[in-house]
Amino acid sequence: MTMFKLENVSKTYNLGKSNECKALDNINLEIEHGELVSIIGESGSGKSTLLHILGCLDKPTEGNLYINGNKINCKDTKRIAKIRNSEIGFVLQDFGLILGETVLENVSVPMLFCEGTLGKMRKQAMNALELLGIKNLAEKKTNQLSGGQKQRVAIARALVNNPNIILADEPTGSLDSKTSSEIVNILLELNAKGKTVIIVTHDINIAKQCNRTIEISDGRIISE
Ligand SMILES: Nc1ncnc2c1ncn2[C@@H]1O[C@H](COP(=O)(O)OP(=O)(O)O)[C@@H](O)[C@H]1O
Ligand SMILES: [Mg+2]
Repeated sequence: MTMFKLENVSKTYNLGKSNECKALDNINLEIEHGELVSIIGESGSGKSTLLHILGCLDKPTEGNLYINGNKINCKDTKRIAKIRNSEIGFVLQDFGLILGETVLENVSVPMLFCEGTLGKMRKQAMNALELLGIKNLAEKKTNQLSGGQKQRVAIARALVNNPNIILADEPTGSLDSKTSSEIVNILLELNAKGKTVIIVTHDINIAKQCNRTIEISDGRIISE
């Protein structure tokens, strides 16, 4: 079954202004349930923009996005927020953690938009930390962590609502090679458990471990 479908999607930043920038140019793409996909391309080619659109963090200027066969209407912000929270876990480029706060607080953020008691939220957050092997770091401030630990926190946060889809933007970008392969293995295991995983990466060795690689250049898909 098709999880994501992009139909003639273009994205232009600062439309109509002097600094207008066409980041995506007529993208057509389908991704099935349970796929493990990498997106590669040079810096500035539009990888993050593509991932943000798939994850409903940003909307296309032109074209349509379908998730599970349902067309996403950009004006339906309530429904988009619900999909984003329950279906999609996003691992942001450079972790995107709140540095003054603890690991537990960071991992709890996606649950703030859901119903549930504080006790239940804490339990769910601790489960996610356990899955990533960092339960012992729960009360630490995130600025005291190593890069690999920060990335585990970012992945735990993406998993906390048990989404079916994990979108990871350069999850190994700032890590050494040993830590990188640990993080990649975590993502591969999540895919093996049935989650759809899409990884944006510079690293051709990571791309090789995925079942499918999409290469983009200047906002266009140039190879599959
Ligand atoms: N918020 C933004 N406002 C204006 N231009 C942007 C914005 N985000 C990205 N861009 C531009 O869009 C293009 C694609 O960026 P991006 O998707 O971040 O590429 P990548 O992730 O492949 O490095 C680049 O030229 C970048 O400068
Ligand atoms: Mg990027």
